[in-house]
Amino acid sequence: MGQAYFATVARGLEPLAVQELTELGAVDVSPAFTGVHFQGDRALLYRVNLWSRLIFRVLVPIAEVKAFNADVLYKSVKKLDWSAYLQPEQTLAVRCTGSNPQLNHSHFTALQIKNAIVDQQRERYGQRSSIELEQPQIVVNAHIDHNRCHLSLDSSGVSLHRRGYRPALGLAPLKETLAAAILRLMAWQPQQPLYDPLCGSGTLLLEAGLQSLRRAPGGFQPQFCFQHWPDFDATLWQALCQEAQAGELEHLPAPIWGSDQDSAVIEQAQANAERCGLGPHLKLWQQDFRQVEAPAGQGILFCNPPYGKRIGNTEALGDFYQLLGDTLKQRFKGWTAFILSGNAALTKRIGLRTARRFPLLNGAIPCTLLKYELY
Ligand SMILES: C[S@@+](CC[C@H](N)C(=O)[O-])C[C@H]1O[C@@H](n2cnc3c(N)ncnc32)[C@H](O)[C@@H]1O
Repeated sequence: MGQAYFATVARGLEPLAVQELTELGAVDVSPAFTGVHFQGDRALLYRVNLWSRLIFRVLVPIAEVKAFNADVLYKSVKKLDWSAYLQPEQTLAVRCTGSNPQLNHSHFTALQIKNAIVDQQRERYGQRSSIELEQPQIVVNAHIDHNRCHLSLDSSGVSLHRRGYRPALGLAPLKETLAAAILRLMAWQPQQPLYDPLCGSGTLLLEAGLQSLRRAPGGFQPQFCFQHWPDFDATLWQALCQEAQAGELEHLPAPIWGSDQDSAVIEQAQANAERCGLGPHLKLWQQDFRQVEAPAGQGILFCNPPYGKRIGNTEALGDFYQLLGDTLKQRFKGWTAFILSGNAALTKRIGLRTARRFPLLNGAIPCTLLKYELY
């Protein structure tokens, strides 16, 4: 039996995260609400941070304390020996989720915990950790559940969906973790040509490109919090990073194409591709959807048209959805198409028979990933 871990994940993606963690070697994997419990050794913790494409962070539970109110929480956190986890010269952030009637403001709850930790340090060493919100070395995660507070160390630090290569964002970009989930739901394989004719900043194509070249998504992170822990095994981490690099491919097994009507977002997509080493591999161009032709005889087409919630106007978009359906039918025979739609009325205007539907959340927007076989 190994160490217990908890991976946080977007709502609805828990079953896919169970699959991914199992593939990475996790055992006793079980889904929870917006998270997955699993067990494994230290190498697994490092491997999940390096390779997971679906999860946000991996937490390592350290204690469960009483949290009837702010005072009880402060005292019970202060009783723990924090010197096992952080030194006064290391920077700290405390993040909190959950609430109870006495602790119903997560910012305030986090402050109680932070005060308890730094007060203990000051009493012991005469100095304390500074608080750093952007790139903290040690992150303590607290979850309030009824009268208990579950304390964990966050091994990741920055949410893993921020791959570290993408400062340039288009309009309404997908989260990288959602793009990776969609690739899984589409059962896309790197040997299949992939085209997104409304690609925006290219999130899905970048995820696909990294998968095709077998590049570890965590390889772009400047640092993970576990690298600041006293038990950090630098030799093990280096071996995992070297193994990842040695397994990278030089060429895509099949082409990945993207186009968009907006030349500015295509420039962003290209800039993002350059930043993650996919610049020469993806083919991106500016083109209105009305002019697109299938770039091959068969392949997987994905697109995430405007829904009318964040961008666009529902009425005007109806005609566009109809055009989308007509174009797929007429020009993409032999392809399998997937459309991520967040608007049921617009979806109807596509006018094609769906082969499958997958419910998904894009942030807070309930969406459906629609599959069409185009004969
Ligand atoms: C919701 S965004 C796609 C976001 C993208 N999946 C990402 O992660 O960045 C929709 C995209 O459709 C593009 N678009 C809208 N109408 C279009 C048209 N007629 N032809 C080509 N692109 C269009 C927009 O420029 C926008 O980038």
